[in-house]
Parts: sequence; structure tokens; C-alpha cells
Amino acid sequence: MCGIIGYTTKKNNSVEVALAGLKNLEYRGYDSSGIAFSTPDGLKMVKAKGKISNLEEKLKSMDTTSSCAIAHTRWATHGEPNETNAHPHKVGKITLVHNGIIENYATLKKELIKKGYTFASETDTEVATAYIDYCFSLEKNKLQAIVNACKAIRGSYAFDIIFEDEPNTIYATRKDSPLIVGYSNEGNFAASDISAILAYTNKYTLIQEGEYARITSSVVTFYNENLQEISKEIKTATWDAAQYQKNGYDHFMLKEIYEQPKVVQDIFERYFDDCTYSDIDFTKFDKIHIVACGSAMHAALIGKYLLQTYAKIPVTTEIASEYRYSESLITPTTLLIVVSQSGETADTLAALRLAKEQGAFVVGIVNAVGSTIAREVNKCIYTYAGPEIAVATTKGYTSQVAIFSTLALNAMKQKGLIEDENAIKDELLSIKDKLDYTLSLRDTYLDIAKDIYNHNDLFFIGRGIDSAICMEGSLKLKEISYMHSESYSAGELKHGTISLIEQGTPVIAIATNDNLFEKTVSNIKETKARGSYTIFVTTDDHKDCHFEEFADKTIILPKTSDFTQAILDVASLQLVAYETAKLRDCDIDKPRNLAKSVTVE
Ligand code: G6P
Repeated sequence: MCGIIGYTTKKNNSVEVALAGLKNLEYRGYDSSGIAFSTPDGLKMVKAKGKISNLEEKLKSMDTTSSCAIAHTRWATHGEPNETNAHPHKVGKITLVHNGIIENYATLKKELIKKGYTFASETDTEVATAYIDYCFSLEKNKLQAIVNACKAIRGSYAFDIIFEDEPNTIYATRKDSPLIVGYSNEGNFAASDISAILAYTNKYTLIQEGEYARITSSVVTFYNENLQEISKEIKTATWDAAQYQKNGYDHFMLKEIYEQPKVVQDIFERYFDDCTYSDIDFTKFDKIHIVACGSAMHAALIGKYLLQTYAKIPVTTEIASEYRYSESLITPTTLLIVVSQSGETADTLAALRLAKEQGAFVVGIVNAVGSTIAREVNKCIYTYAGPEIAVATTKGYTSQVAIFSTLALNAMKQKGLIEDENAIKDELLSIKDKLDYTLSLRDTYLDIAKDIYNHNDLFFIGRGIDSAICMEGSLKLKEISYMHSESYSAGELKHGTISLIEQGTPVIAIATNDNLFEKTVSNIKETKARGSYTIFVTTDDHKDCHFEEFADKTIILPKTSDFTQAILDVASLQLVAYETAKLRDCDIDKPRNLAKSVTVE
């Protein structure tokens, strides 16, 4: 979490550019922010609690003429969000911004206190700053001091560092947190990701672990940890700055919801055109582990259903933060699939590294091109959903589900389990129209939002694949509207949770799975008999069913196969969540306490 950007320029607008870049990193955390910039009187530092707009406000009244700045937007880990804990931190001759967590900060802090250092904040970052300063006091070579400090530091970090006597030069390095260097004619950058700098350049280099960059306005030099100069490839980003605009939508989330028909259609077209995943031999694997976090885990649950039901391969899913510390029982015939929109999620990355060490073949389903997970897996399947800015994922999730559909199809094909591929192809390629229709039902979603937005508790129930859909619908609602919502397998409700159903408690019940339709309806009737206010989500092939017996409101979606139904269902629930959050006046794109890219454990 946290976003950092450093910019050193031949001009004097470093503060303006760093701030503009920082705003594009706000998805990484936004509880406080800060900037340090060079002036003829030394480095100036300004920090503010809350969003970056608060920092901007403070800077308005200041002279911000400067040719070098480092800036930070924070998602608090050590210490509450306040100005003292906000970055940059300055100790002795060192000022820096940091993304990551210094795990051994307590030990280093004790060591430094003995040497006379004092600390103002509760952060691990101030300790890292002091440690670099300490190393610099012993070793006058700046790069060597950073290398020495990094050897003592345990944990994850991306650092942009300024030394007091060299205020227009940025030193940068990273471990387990992303950092890129960007190049423009007017100056050079070191930022958490390409979105921060795309308005100025699309030329960038990834800093790899154990590499150090010295960045001036005209030259960037890379070193390995033996301080030998190394040459690095300059890449060109394909995403452009326009993709980071709302393009007339009220929120990024809404824009991204409406991008889904194209994103998903493109995935299916690509699959049938040229992408057969022939380099993944599904006949070789007797089991699949799917590992992910958050919504990516919910997409994994759909993947499990498809791979197990149709390709007949046993699949287990586990959230990455548990998988990495469990007995995973990987064998040479285990396929590991990791799923990550950002490609940077710390737990997912750790799980993939662990599995690779144990000899597993790892496939990644990733959106962010060139991200760490994308680079480290044996085979990366990109979703190519384009940049996702809203913290609550929408197109990220549906594109992952679409990739799982194609993976299951491919596995079925390899195992000779497909009877009529053309019929499946026709159905998959008709997704865009059906999804367009689903997204056109805005009045229905708003009407439902009006019914539920005043309630404190809500339940989602469903069976089979519908139960996985419920989990994503419920997460979306709580993430952005702060309503308490729980997702339950419909058959499980009566084993305890049904005690929470009172007169008027909203229950969103999903029944799109034909085999289980009647059973789910029975479960809905059980909640209805206890007073629930029921919103029933089903497909148009059931439209003659007597909904009025148990449903107060209905959402009727186009019927598709299991390979795409989840995409339609979740898209409708995304809009219910969106309309509800709007009525509750929530900050939809930046919900409290969350961050989009979770680069800490
Ligand atoms: C965060 C985001 C979620 C996302 C999860 C996993 O919690 O807010 O939307 O699903 O991380 O992120 P990833 O980038 O690995 O898909």
C-alpha cells in the first residue's frame, strides 16, 4: 500500500508534477499525504491528514518553486493517520518516502536509540530513515550507505531518498514493493507505478530487487549491490493517460462497470482467435490450487466451480494469507493458479513464490502488465482490462471470471470433454449484448437501493455457483456503502444465522442455477416466513415462476450458461451496491480504510 513518487527536473515545477502524479496513486491509500521539495534554503516538508486535496490546499499559499520533490500518499500500517506519522520522514541528512513494511523496525529502533537517535513518529519508516542516516555516518558513499542499510532492514520497501547535500538527486531502491523509473525530456521519475507518470511519459524501467538507481534531471544510473553500473532496458507503456480519466461518468467505479461488456467480449474473442493456452497441459495435473485475495478469491470460486464441474479436475481455493502459512501439499502434478488484478498483492506474491520453490507450475491471471506477479509466474494470462482506478474492483473481477471460463474450456478441450464447442463459442461471444442489457436496468437497481439503503444489516443467499456470486455482491455492497452485509449458502442459513432475520430484514437471494433453483426458492420461503424483505435475482427462463409468493422485488437477467452467468449476476449487484452507496452519500471511489493495491501482509 501507499504510493510514492519522486521527480527531479530541469525546470522548477517538481511540486506540481509530483502532486499530479500522486493523485493517480491515491488508490493505494489516502489517509494522509506529504511532500518534501528542494529550495535554495534546504528541503521543505509539508504534510496533511486525509486526502491529497488537503495537502494541495496547504501548498497553495506557499512558494513551491522547486526542481526536485518526493511525495507520498499513505495507508497507515504503523501509527494512526496524522501529520507526524505521514511521510516524508527526515532524520539527520536523510529525507525519504517509503511504501512497504519494515518488519524488524523494533530491533533497529532499539539499536538506534542506543546510538543517540530519537524518534518523533510511531512509524517503521522513520526507523528506516534513521538507519540509512546511521549507515551514511559510517560510510560516506551514499549508495554504499543505502546498500548497507538495506542489508540490515528486513521487510518490504520501495524508497525514494534525498540526501541533504544533494537536494536535486533521488536515490531509489525496492524489495517486494513496486517501483519504476520514468524518463521525460524535462526530468526523471521514481514512482510506485506507471499511472503516476503517464501524463508526462510512457518510457519507464522496472527497478528489480537488489538494484539501486541514482536519478538526476538528466541522467539515471543503475547499480547492483556491488555498486557496479548496470544497463537496463527502457520499456514503453501501452496504457495511456486518457484511461485514467472519468470520461463523463460520476465515478471511476461507474465507468469501469460500463467498460465490462467490451473487456469481457475482448477476452472471449482473443481466446477463440488465437489463445489456446496450449502451453498449459491440463492433462498433466491431477489437482489445481487457486490462491488469491478479496474479489480475486471470489473469481477463483467461480473458476473452481467451472474447472471442477466441467473439466473434472479437483480444485481447492484458499485465500493467499492462509495458503502461504499452511501445509499446501504441493506435488509435481499440482497446478497453482494465482489471481490478482494489481499483480502486486503481497500475500498472493508470497504464495506464488512458495509454490514455485516447491516445484509447482504457476499460472497467473493478472491485469497490471509487467507487475511483479506477472513477471514471476511460469505463465501469465493477462486480462487486459485496462487500468482500474476505483478501489472496489468491477471489471477486474469480471475479467478474471471470463479468463477462468476460457481456462475451463481449454482444459475440457484437452481432455476431450467438449461436445459442441461451436455452441459454447456462440454463447460466449453473445455476452456483450446480454451484459449491455444487464447494465441498462438502472431504474431497477436504483429502486432496490432505495429499499435497502436505510437498513443496518442485509443478507445475500444462494447455492452452488450462486453462493460465490453472493460473496462478491455482498463484498461490493459493504466495501462502498459501509452497510453490514453477509453472504450465506442458502442451505446453511438455518444453522444459526436465520436468527438474525427480523421483520423487514433485506435478503438478496440469487437463483440462477437451474439444478438448485427449487431448493433456493425453498430457502427463500424460510426467510420470508420470518419477515424478510426479499429481493430475488434470477434469469428470464424462470419468468413464469410465481415470484409474488416470496419476492418483494425482482431482478430478471438474461439466461446464459455457467460460463458467463456469474458475469451478468455480479454486474447487476455492482450497480445495486453503487446506487446504495450513492444514496448513503459515501465516497464511492475511495471507501474509508481501504486501498486497492495491498502490498503489505
Ligand atoms: C484489495 C482490493 C480488492 C482486491 C484485493 C486483491 O483488497 O481492494 O478489490 O480484490 O485487494 O487484489 P488483487 O490486486 O490481488 O486482485
